[in-house]
Amino acid sequence: MAKNYSKYFVKPSIKDARKRKEKETEVINFDDYFNIKGFGKNKTYKIETFGCQANEADTEKIEGILRALDFTESEKLEDADLILLNTCAVRENAENRVFGELGRLKQFKRNNPDLILGICGCMPQEEKVVNRILEKIPHVDLVFGTHNIYKLPEYLETVILSKERVIEVYSQEGSVVENLPRIRENSRKAWVNIMYGCDEFCTYCIVPYTRGKERSRLPEHILSEVQTLINEGYKEITLLGQNVNSYGNDFTDLDYRFKNLLDDLHQMAIERVRFTTSHPKDFDEETVKILAKGGNLMPYIHLPVQSGNNDVLKRMNRKYTKESYIQLVNWIYKYVPNASLTTDIIVGFPGETEDQFQDTLELVKTCKFEGAYTFIYSKREGTPAAKYEDEITYEEKKDRLNRLMDIVNDGYLVGTKRFEGKVVKVLVDGLSKSKDTVLAGYTENNKLVNFAGPEELIGTIVKVLVTESKTWSMFGEIVE
Ligand code: SAH
Ligand code: SF4
Ligand code: F3S
Repeated sequence: MAKNYSKYFVKPSIKDARKRKEKETEVINFDDYFNIKGFGKNKTYKIETFGCQANEADTEKIEGILRALDFTESEKLEDADLILLNTCAVRENAENRVFGELGRLKQFKRNNPDLILGICGCMPQEEKVVNRILEKIPHVDLVFGTHNIYKLPEYLETVILSKERVIEVYSQEGSVVENLPRIRENSRKAWVNIMYGCDEFCTYCIVPYTRGKERSRLPEHILSEVQTLINEGYKEITLLGQNVNSYGNDFTDLDYRFKNLLDDLHQMAIERVRFTTSHPKDFDEETVKILAKGGNLMPYIHLPVQSGNNDVLKRMNRKYTKESYIQLVNWIYKYVPNASLTTDIIVGFPGETEDQFQDTLELVKTCKFEGAYTFIYSKREGTPAAKYEDEITYEEKKDRLNRLMDIVNDGYLVGTKRFEGKVVKVLVDGLSKSKDTVLAGYTENNKLVNFAGPEELIGTIVKVLVTESKTWSMFGEIVE
């Protein structure tokens, strides 16, 4: 166990994380940086990922670095020489799961004192988390955040070779790191980061503090990554950003925005292009018109609304109204008539009245969502809403969540039923979870379909006639 502290000791500060520097985004090339190799030989690792797609994409990069250092993946968690928890801070229950896991791993450490235990991702960006680790969780050897993944080789060198504890979390960072090695989870579907960070500061949300200021990747870097993926046989990409519709707004001398990127990708030989997440305030009619070109631009949009009441939206700092949101939804259905829309909704935001909640239910029906992630508001220390008065009881919040989910589930079913009797294109992912003779994959509208077929079809796009639709999935027969 690393007992002494190394030269790496930097704690985060939520106050600093709120600040936004004006300086130009620095692009760091990992190849210029990476000069220590080899010390992972004969050592194994395991990474546990707790967060969103951005977090999963980071895990792929961390894995890429570990493999470049000659580490290999351990089959079992208990046999690993290095365990990293890549964490999420967005809601309290996400954090509790990580603290629970850290407690469980204490035993592993007792059994194997040489085990290196590290925590990274969004939780270490919070000062209260780092303080808790310093005070109460001595069996954690390595703590780093979302801004310094590229420094992992030197951190590991210190923890493993010098047996010293590393705690280094930057609160503010403006860089974009290119050329990180990457072990992709899937060989047909790939995440492509188009930007990092978030400048929206929705009053409930911790992400702008844990991920730093919004920084867009240069178009040439994104397009060449996509070309490489095409050459490697990838079929689908999902563009990642906390607010993809504001892509490029931080460029100082480049007039290139999200719609231009979509238009360029539309011309490329990648079969499917998806993106997440869209912020309604920056999604304009022009962008919807580009999506209407169809082809590889998939007719599925995740468009988080959060609430259907203007007063609540204002207090959430979402910067759009119910009316402008509905306008956007109408454009989408007008230009992309076949589109499937899903959303995110928070219930029980501080001060949300029953009437205001009713506005949300109403909006869900109006927008014909075919799915939604629904959350009970979770107080995040350091965010503005944490100071708002919150008088809604937990029972009431739970009740609102249940009532909302009933309506959301109706939407899921309408969304699958409309494909019954129709032929859909499915990218075959693999064998179905429940039956190993059944294939499963997703349609262009992002619906799960199960159907009988040979394993060789995995990774290809096939046509399937939908014979039966249920709330969460559809069943069908291959027609081609
Ligand atoms: N950038 C994306 C998603 C970020 S987090 C967006 O703006 O849509 C994913 C979802 O978690 C959010 O859409 C929101 O619905 C939910 N969320 C974020 N902070 C939360 C909090 N404090 N309590 C409950 N849900 C929250
Ligand atoms: Fe959080 Fe809002 Fe940024 Fe999404 S847009 S990550 S909800 S602050
Ligand atoms: Fe969680 Fe961080 Fe993503 S807080 S939702 S892992 S950006």
